[in-house]
Amino acid sequence: MKLVNLGNTNWSVSNIALGTWRMNKLTVDQAVKTIETAIDQGINFFDSSDVYGRSESEKIFGQAIKQVSKSRDELFIQTKGGIISHQRYDFSKQHLIQAVDNSLMRLDVDYLDSYLLHRPDPLMEPDEVAEAFDDLQKAGKVRHFGVSNFNPQQVSLLQNSLNQKILVNQLQFSLMHTGMIDHGIHTNMTDNRSVNHDGELIEYSRRKNITIQAWSPFQYSNYAGVFIDDPKAENLNQELQKLADKYQVSKNAIAVAWILRHPANFQVLIGTMNPEHIIDSIAGSDIQLSRQEWYDLYLSAGNDLP
Ligand SMILES: NC(=O)c1ccc[n+]([C@@H]2O[C@H](COP(=O)([O-])OP(=O)(O)OC[C@H]3O[C@@H](n4cnc5c(N)ncnc54)[C@H](OP(=O)(O)O)[C@@H]3O)[C@@H](O)[C@H]2O)c1
Repeated sequence: MKLVNLGNTNWSVSNIALGTWRMNKLTVDQAVKTIETAIDQGINFFDSSDVYGRSESEKIFGQAIKQVSKSRDELFIQTKGGIISHQRYDFSKQHLIQAVDNSLMRLDVDYLDSYLLHRPDPLMEPDEVAEAFDDLQKAGKVRHFGVSNFNPQQVSLLQNSLNQKILVNQLQFSLMHTGMIDHGIHTNMTDNRSVNHDGELIEYSRRKNITIQAWSPFQYSNYAGVFIDDPKAENLNQELQKLADKYQVSKNAIAVAWILRHPANFQVLIGTMNPEHIIDSIAGSDIQLSRQEWYDLYLSAGNDLP
């Protein structure tokens, strides 16, 4: 398992992390097996959120990590907050402090290694968020902070008020969700792919030393499901299979290796709860695709080069 430094810190974290969005579907015993498999394969970083499974995922994860072979201080635990499901996004100081306390209670841990604002709140007051982060850090409840689904201007606006550096931006990125690079390839053109939805997220993150955590590495856009083995993505699956045969790994591993081949040093956030799929996916950590293989995969996903 290759390691990557998170942001500008000297924290060496696994370049593949396990997300616990879907953990609410497991019993605690099943969750222990899933987490233990991830740890055996070298994963030391886990992501959650207070909205996953209506908070059940945090609870099950919290109970399960008590029973695994690694101690709390050997694991990096990150969760996210700032969403009140189906009501509003809420970055008020009061909500953020309460949300962290609730997450700590559900996870049954004393501190979070990293806490992310889950989705940008248009009503965000950066100075108020800064006060919340200061209080949380001084109280020893959160070590480091980051964001998720923020564009560069939103990151910059918030960073301007903070005393802590934003280390992470968690963003969707997969072979079937490549908007962050498409518009750069199509710069100065007028086709659909030239539309820049997000700002220069990759370039900005690289310049500012922010680690991009790529969520849903095996999914289509808009929660449309898994592309691995999906007949709708026949060309991509053929290309994935060709490289899987060459490197003697699974298609999952190649889809992960494709993200990791990008020089931005992504951390890939896999969400499978199936121990076999975890092992399959993690094999991608060490594979270095050639430049041509990377482009072959990109093109087989239905993209073009001007
Ligand atoms: N910041 C955000 O807004 C945001 C949004 C979404 C997710 N996330 C984070 O990202 C993590 C990963 O997201 P994700 O779960 O969507 O990622 P994912 O790893 O792309 O998808 C996992 C899903 O794909 C299935 N799968 C994986 N390999 C498969 C295969 N070979 N064949 C069939 N099905 C396969 C898994 O089923 P099995 O379990 O059966 O393998 C599972 O249902 C989440 O846990 C969460 O931490 C963040």
